[in-house]
Amino acid sequence: VIFLFATIFVAAVIAIDEETHPSMQGMQSLSISYETPEQYSLLKNYVDVPGFDFVKSTKDFVDVLVTADKIKDFKQLLEEHRMNYTVMVEDVQQLVSEEYIAQEVERRLQARTQDYASGRLSFTYYPNYKEVNEYLTYLTQTYKNIASLITIGNSYEGRSMKVLKLSTGGGNKPAIFIDAGIHAREWIAPATALYMVDLMLQSHTDLLAKVDWYVLPVLNPDGYEYTHSSSANRLWRKTRSNTGSICKGVDGNRNYDMQWMTIGASSNPCSDTYAGPKAFSEVENQHLRDFILARKGQIKAYLTFHSYGQYILYPWGWTSSVPSNEPELRNLASQCAQAIAKSRRTRYTYGTSANALYPAAGGSDDWALGKAGINLSYTYELPGGNSGFLLPASEIKPVGVETFEALKVVHQYVTSKYASH
Ligand code: ARG
Ligand code: ZN
Repeated sequence: VIFLFATIFVAAVIAIDEETHPSMQGMQSLSISYETPEQYSLLKNYVDVPGFDFVKSTKDFVDVLVTADKIKDFKQLLEEHRMNYTVMVEDVQQLVSEEYIAQEVERRLQARTQDYASGRLSFTYYPNYKEVNEYLTYLTQTYKNIASLITIGNSYEGRSMKVLKLSTGGGNKPAIFIDAGIHAREWIAPATALYMVDLMLQSHTDLLAKVDWYVLPVLNPDGYEYTHSSSANRLWRKTRSNTGSICKGVDGNRNYDMQWMTIGASSNPCSDTYAGPKAFSEVENQHLRDFILARKGQIKAYLTFHSYGQYILYPWGWTSSVPSNEPELRNLASQCAQAIAKSRRTRYTYGTSANALYPAAGGSDDWALGKAGINLSYTYELPGGNSGFLLPASEIKPVGVETFEALKVVHQYVTSKYASH
């Protein structure tokens, strides 16, 4: 009965959405492989063209979302150029609506249990901004001697940004910093960061003995809340700042002051990779910068979670040349990838961003290494299954468990290299 009620209720909400935002109706997600430079440049012509969203690109294939009005001609073009493609999602709107309904049903079921009232998360749905904060508060109340919150400032729209600190006390411990959610639509990232915290506090407190942890689960709260506010906004990536254009928002991960705007970023405010009017124009990134610089010597590892693609990336993203500690970075990435593969056979690729994925400047990982002096700096591209950003919430726990194996490896390395024994 609850399920039925929730389904009808949510369906009504979606019906309203659809009138104002028809664009995901009939939109498809295509995975296209390419071989020749000619095929590559053909695809490249469509980057930043309205109706096309290149959500993932690698050396041999791209995933692109194409709106209904463009799909027929585009597929024909691909066929003419003998390019193979797979339709990954037949109708993006339908999948988004299904996710929306599933989310609301889980949320309502959970609301009936006692734990929920205290703010605890079930990890059976993706929490919104408010639920993330309630969970953080719950943690500080439940683990009084370990968990505390540091408010690092407000987002552009005035949402408070909270870093969870986990510490068993004692000074001079090395720290690991984790953030997630700089890209709004990558919902699995904040969920994974929080689930790993849950695992640590519930059953792996040994990870707290020699290391302090800082976790910022939602680095872009405005964008995150926007993707949760209506199914029509589900695929938003950027912040929500107004930079004086009709198009809102900046790509937070092109906005750091590390070779800003030199490659793989756009100066067009309407682009999804808009780097912003200047480096660190985004207040959310300013807060992160100030927080990290204030703990410069203490933070030994910087981990930022994204989705999707199953990559463990490290600097540089701005050049194909590699940092001086590349062997160390590669070694640790390799161990992490092995640990994940052992857990659930999930295959990760690792390498420098520019070489393993694509060149892009102004990223937080490059800044952490290049400007904050954190030698161990990684971007995790978590799995997207067959549906990319719309990964079913039933994957939160499995992804969390396997990613936690990588976190243990990083913890072990930081402990043996930096902790006093
Ligand atoms: N998918 C991420 C992005 O496009 C990858 C970032 C990798 N790091 C980098 N500095 N390019 O933002
Ligand atoms: Zn991302």
